[in-house]
Amino acid sequence: MQKTLAQLTSDAKAVLRGNRTDKFTKPTSNLYPHQWSWDSCFISIGYSHYDQQWAQKEMLHLFNAQWKNGMIPHIVFDDRGYEEKYFPGPAFWEIERSTNAPDHVKTSGICQPPVHATAVRAILENATDPAKAREFAQTVYPALAAWHDYLYRERDIGSDGLVYIRHPWESGQDNSPAWDPVLREIDPESVDIPAYQRRDLSHVDASERPDDIDYDRYIYLVDLFRTAGYSEAAIREAGCPFLVEDVLFNTILCQANRDLAAIADEIDEDPSRWTALAEKTSDALNRKLWSEKHKLYMNYDTVAGQPISERILAGFLPLYAGIPGPDRADTLFTYLNTTCFCRLADDCLAVPTYDRSSPDYSSSKYWRGPIWINLNWMLCLGLSRYGFDDYAGRIMKSIIWLPMNSGFREYFDPDTGKGYGTDRFSWTAALLLDVLYSADENVKNFFSPQM
Ligand code: GLC
Repeated sequence: MQKTLAQLTSDAKAVLRGNRTDKFTKPTSNLYPHQWSWDSCFISIGYSHYDQQWAQKEMLHLFNAQWKNGMIPHIVFDDRGYEEKYFPGPAFWEIERSTNAPDHVKTSGICQPPVHATAVRAILENATDPAKAREFAQTVYPALAAWHDYLYRERDIGSDGLVYIRHPWESGQDNSPAWDPVLREIDPESVDIPAYQRRDLSHVDASERPDDIDYDRYIYLVDLFRTAGYSEAAIREAGCPFLVEDVLFNTILCQANRDLAAIADEIDEDPSRWTALAEKTSDALNRKLWSEKHKLYMNYDTVAGQPISERILAGFLPLYAGIPGPDRADTLFTYLNTTCFCRLADDCLAVPTYDRSSPDYSSSKYWRGPIWINLNWMLCLGLSRYGFDDYAGRIMKSIIWLPMNSGFREYFDPDTGKGYGTDRFSWTAALLLDVLYSADENVKNFFSPQM
């Protein structure tokens, strides 16, 4: 018998509770046993609807690991037995080579998409104790400001409003086909790669994870960063082959600037800097990353000086931050609607991470095709922002239908809805909760009238 929405809600909360330590919530217990940056933002958005205290605690634990230059690291390591659980761990990152690294906690030396201000705004908006939420926002505002300042100061080489990422892991979409042409420039046969042993394959089948050759390249880049002491200038001078202006990262930053402006307003700070930066990044995305030929936003390889012409779901996501004008939004929607939506069940639609007509498309391999809940959640918000409410509602139904039928998996097959990767994955549960708390009767009644 199908679960009711009330059961699903309680199961989703149990997933988050089960992945929680006394300090933060892990993405999942086995494969990812530490705190991940953008995961915790999604997790906090989920908590914000029913557990304000944990939502705040989750973010505070992340901000506590902020680097002295403002970077929020992509992993904050749990200091209870980390080495044997996960690779690359603190001994490999060697962040002590940087004077900017925190002294009191171990972290990685890269970052992830800046969803943080968006999570803090959700906490303010959904608070059961608004005074406490306001106090919390006042406490974390300097950390958020330093984080956004870091990105524009250190990562926007042309000062044009677009920041670069320097590792596929910084995009959050680790082995997306968008990285293939850039990574091909690193030939593992002709560069030095330190000896290492993968740990991910002991938890998940190799067919669902990145290939060894790509893993060699990921490790090569980490080695380059630590040798450069994690200084951006030294990393660029060392000829880092991966410096990409990523559509998704910049879109999320644009929305986070809008959210930071709203937070500033709420706590009587000046929002104008963040509003101006949101516009600057939005203009740059429209000017530099829009491809008239492909009718999609495309990542830009700053080393090769050319766009990366791979059609990935992220190419539609500027809708999420209100970046395209109305005509461009219509163009994007027409393209989405004619070729990209997958029908999972009656009225349930979702979009795979990669163009299904591409020869490299895979329905089961990580970021090379499968459906991920976080990107579909952003697409859903983007579609409703432009008034495509019917389609936003159908994506919401998929975000409910997938965990209901396949469990709280990491990602899902676009044709069958089958779940892959790890189980009891936190952001699948957290963003499902966000949808369940925000959905209208039309969406809820599709499954069952009670919640
Ligand atoms: C994988 C995902 C990344 C996520 C991490 C922890 O590396 O690609 O987006 O943050 O797992 O869940």
